[in-house]
Amino acid sequence: MTFDLARARAETRGCAEVTHLNHAGASLMPAPVADAVIDWLREEELTGGYETANRHRGRLEHFYDATAKLLNCHRDEVAFVENATRAWDMAFYALDLGPGDRILTAECEYGSNMIAYLHRAKRTGCRVDIVPSDKHGQIDVAALDSMVDSHTKLISISHIPTGGGLVNPAEAVGAVARKYGVPYLLDACQSVGQMPIDVEAIGCDFLSATGRKYLRGPRGTGFLYVRYRWIEEMDIDPPLLDQHAATLVSESEYAMRDDARRFENWECYFAGKAALGTAIDYALAWGMPAIWKRVTAVADDLRAKLATVPGVTVTDQGLAKCGIVTFTKKGEDLPALRQRLLEQKINISVSTGSGSRVGFDRRGLDAVVRASVHYLTSEEEVDRLIAAIR
Ligand SMILES: Cc1ncc(COP(=O)(O)O)c(C=O)c1O
Repeated sequence: MTFDLARARAETRGCAEVTHLNHAGASLMPAPVADAVIDWLREEELTGGYETANRHRGRLEHFYDATAKLLNCHRDEVAFVENATRAWDMAFYALDLGPGDRILTAECEYGSNMIAYLHRAKRTGCRVDIVPSDKHGQIDVAALDSMVDSHTKLISISHIPTGGGLVNPAEAVGAVARKYGVPYLLDACQSVGQMPIDVEAIGCDFLSATGRKYLRGPRGTGFLYVRYRWIEEMDIDPPLLDQHAATLVSESEYAMRDDARRFENWECYFAGKAALGTAIDYALAWGMPAIWKRVTAVADDLRAKLATVPGVTVTDQGLAKCGIVTFTKKGEDLPALRQRLLEQKINISVSTGSGSRVGFDRRGLDAVVRASVHYLTSEEEVDRLIAAIR
């Protein structure tokens, strides 16, 4: 079946305004998603915030059903959180780690996650060990297997790094985690929305994601998946609790919720939560396999065309590559290049060291241009970018 690109673009008002190649930063919301936010805020303005939420309880609840369908999990395993970092933090800081305990991660780990490992290492005496990459640049699963020992208390990786187009073998990592019974936290911030994600197939215990990137939801939204076993059997203890996450039952006692919403805040971005449900429905209506097929085809086309531009080096690694396309260009300062393209209404971003410190340092990279495509990217847009870079 061919992809109905014309419809995808017609339903995205921003397509008439800009050549948006920054979907890994924040995508363009489709019209039904943007309208869901705007209409909700208008209703809050005119009738009151609590009253709007009460009137649309069903839409707020629908967020859990939509996310459960997206990830192949149960709605009680989903928490709405304001962004991917905080979702990830809520799981990470809930895990017991003490002196000598080891966290295993990958070279291309996201900067904020690395900071959190080091933060806990400093506080608790646990340590973080970086699993080397294989010859394709992705986590070396055999090395991971050989590094797990009795002190290993967590395997935690980014599915797709922020500053490169590779897709880490999340399922193979999950098989190692299961083999040794080690908890597995997957940062799926860049993968959810561009490829099919099945938490059962992956075998992760926790998964974090954001709304605004490949899901095309509003900014300020994200979610956490928590395998139910962690609530039912382990009674996992979130780092923060409020009276939505728990109930105060007496002056000396509280009871935590018996679902993943123990990781949520009472107050949140209600318009965003409802609209994220709309965004997930919208993605599912296109179909995740169809989205993935189209994203990878467009990205492959862009990589092939970039390879013909003098001075450009494509820096993406990995056996499987995604919609994030990264490259360097000789003779032009990258922030200046970004500004030059912006003036031609072409949106791209530049990834610098902090977000990808370990991977970039080990590869001798300072900064790369990141042009991230989505299913709605047209061939004309790819050609416009190539011409502008040339
Ligand atoms: C791999 C990865 N993890 C986490 C994040 C953080 O997401 P958020 O800004 O929603 O907290 C990003 C953002 O770029 C990312 O690329």
